[in-house]
Amino acid sequence: MFIDEATGEQVTTGTPIALVIDNVDPRSKDYSDIKDKYRPGHADYTYDAKYGIRDYRGGGRQSARETAMRVAAGAVARKIVPGMTVRGALVQMGEHKIERKRWNWDEVERNPFFCPDAEQAKFFEAYLDDIRKRGSSVGAVIEIVAEGVPVGLGAPIYGKLDGDLAAALMGINAVKGVEIGAGFAAAALSGEENADEIRIGNDGKPVFLSNHAGGILGGISTGQPIVCRFAVKPTSSILTPRRTVDRYGAETEISTKGRHDPCVGIRAVPIGEAMVACVIADHYLRQRGQMGETPAWPFARA
Ligand SMILES: Cc1cc2nc3c(=O)[nH]c(=O)nc-3n(C[C@H](O)[C@H](O)[C@H](O)COP(=O)(O)O)c2cc1C
Repeated sequence: MFIDEATGEQVTTGTPIALVIDNVDPRSKDYSDIKDKYRPGHADYTYDAKYGIRDYRGGGRQSARETAMRVAAGAVARKIVPGMTVRGALVQMGEHKIERKRWNWDEVERNPFFCPDAEQAKFFEAYLDDIRKRGSSVGAVIEIVAEGVPVGLGAPIYGKLDGDLAAALMGINAVKGVEIGAGFAAAALSGEENADEIRIGNDGKPVFLSNHAGGILGGISTGQPIVCRFAVKPTSSILTPRRTVDRYGAETEISTKGRHDPCVGIRAVPIGEAMVACVIADHYLRQRGQMGETPAWPFARA
């Protein structure tokens, strides 16, 4: 990247952009108690079983510290698609959902939960504090909405846009479920309810009257907002003792101290935004490489 010192103008030069974040506050000794024990719900056992060696300090390679770099990469990706905005919000903590009628994007910036419902954010404060004090943890659901995504992004079979988004979101630590649009609720809808009916808008372009598809049909973007949700499990490192085994084959108990969020779903909001931005930017460049300009719609009758 080139930054003109005189004007402050920043331009990419086509060479790779390298981003580095130093961890200036590691506390490796917090983890010495659990060096040989496997945290139930964490990846300690699978790493040991796969590699025979595991860096237990700070969670090692399993740590979500690596997601900081995804957020940084997302900032670059957001610049690639002209006019695109990607926003995320926490819409459920534990079994407590937000009230969608109170959804206000401005609220997301005003509370520490990235919650669009101010009233529910107040409730989450006391709720999460109690969970933390009890040495427990809780899961969450995050919703990501990408607006200004052009029609036509996504490959028809391999590399469907929804498939790539699901893989990217599922690739975030602690994510156990992904939905696009109506998601699992679509199974309970009738064909009439689920059909996003189409009319012609004032600009001659199609207007969808609903968005159960979450902005994607046949793996290709419709031009509507792309809506994804993902479920994050409760943090597995908890103070409450749990039964487990150690790496030498003995049964034991584990209680995890150190710095662990009682709900990792909160910090997963910007990570989800970044992953969605990266996938859409990638497909934007692929579409431009394959098709150049997207075909002009509607087509002239022969
Ligand atoms: C932002 C973020 C922070 C996380 N912090 C912790 C943590 O402090 N303690 C913990 O046990 N797990 C934490 N996790 C989850 C683990 O990284 C994850 O559960 C573990 O790597 C096992 O992978 P899996 O849950 O995807 O199967 C965090 C996840 C995210 C997204």
